[in-house]
Amino acid sequence: MAPERLKAPRGTFDVLPADGERRRSLRTAAERLLGDAGYAAFESPVFEDTALFARGVGESTDIVQKEMFTFEDQGGRSLTLRPEGTAGACRAYIEHGMHKRPAPVKLSYWGPFFRHEAPQAGRYRQFAQVGAEALGSDDPSLDAELILLLAELLERAGVAQLRLRLSSLGDAPTRAAYGEELRAHLRARAGELSAEVRARIDQNPLRAFDSDHPGTRAVMDDAPLLVERLGASDAAHFATVRALLDDAGLAYDLDPTLVRGLDYYTRTVFEFESAALGAQRGVGGGGRYDGLVEQLGGPATPGVGWAAGIERILLAAGGGEQPEAEPKVYVAVAKPEAARRAFALARTLRLGVGARVELEQAGRSLKGQLKHADRVGARAVVIVGDAIEVKDMRSGAQRTARDEDELMRLVRES
Ligand code: HAM
Repeated sequence: MAPERLKAPRGTFDVLPADGERRRSLRTAAERLLGDAGYAAFESPVFEDTALFARGVGESTDIVQKEMFTFEDQGGRSLTLRPEGTAGACRAYIEHGMHKRPAPVKLSYWGPFFRHEAPQAGRYRQFAQVGAEALGSDDPSLDAELILLLAELLERAGVAQLRLRLSSLGDAPTRAAYGEELRAHLRARAGELSAEVRARIDQNPLRAFDSDHPGTRAVMDDAPLLVERLGASDAAHFATVRALLDDAGLAYDLDPTLVRGLDYYTRTVFEFESAALGAQRGVGGGGRYDGLVEQLGGPATPGVGWAAGIERILLAAGGGEQPEAEPKVYVAVAKPEAARRAFALARTLRLGVGARVELEQAGRSLKGQLKHADRVGARAVVIVGDAIEVKDMRSGAQRTARDEDELMRLVRES
């Protein structure tokens, strides 16, 4: 009996070559964009102590309550595959004394994240995020800069039908006072709420804004709004962020009902949505988290950042599969004794021409190799036999190269 074929786990996927090329060019574009704005490449482990997320992301969030891949290592320590990157960045900021560096400390990252969610289009259990964080300053220009960078990235990636939702949550005391006001409103009309929202009035009343339940929505239509309760300095901070976005000509919707799924946010929050996506329309989002570093045991440190989902960006950008990158040069082997020379020449050409060079490595006949080179779109074929010849695939002309210098020149010219 043939052995059973195994599949990738539920909610995960393989990145096949055409998609891999799209991801690679998106990553290159993101790294250039963020690098130019001073966001240095940062990496943290894919798993962390579970306590980091419990404390950082918040005990009452869906992420911590039901979406974490948590396991025990051989030493009995509870570890969790990271569901997001901000808590890890703050942990590293504290651990490496980054507060001693000139502020703001700007970090950017790209990598896999894990959430045990019900899989659907645009929602996976392993997904990739690109993210950026600025720590150590509460200057509103950082909020605006980060929002503009994400807008630029999404635009360059070709994400269609974008909408930016923007709001401010104020500081912790304002949020606490508002939380009490909102709880009182919800309790007064508890009978109209969904069972889920009712059960979480005490824990997380803000999530009621997220509900699709008609009764809950009616209650929320009359709910007090946090943006109307901001203290003077938070209101001024938010006004500056908006003014900078206005100056840059970036359109946004002020949306006081914007709820982010993480507990650490203070002041500015934002989310980019694409109507080109289905139910999972959030392509990227973030905000300020001025209390998080302190909450994780570090010095009082403001912070702001965002993350965007790579799969959602590519889904929303559409355009289907991109053709695989074409080799410029194909090195064909005319007879078996020439294989060693061909191998060495392919390497020399890669270094010398700086172009994509592929070598025959599947035992085809010379005729088969030329056909294959044509199919993959090679512009020149270097035929290595008794002599070395260069065939220009557009003109069909074939010329002999007497030495490596001439070979380089002929290849460059084709
Ligand atoms: P988040 O909104 O939870 O924020 O995730 C950011 C983005 O990751 C989402 O907009 C979405 O594109 C993508 N994403 C999230 N979950 C999934 C999933 N299950 N499948 C596919 N894509 C997904 C954060 O993670 C915060 N750390 C952002 C941040 C950084 N805030 C401040 N700094």
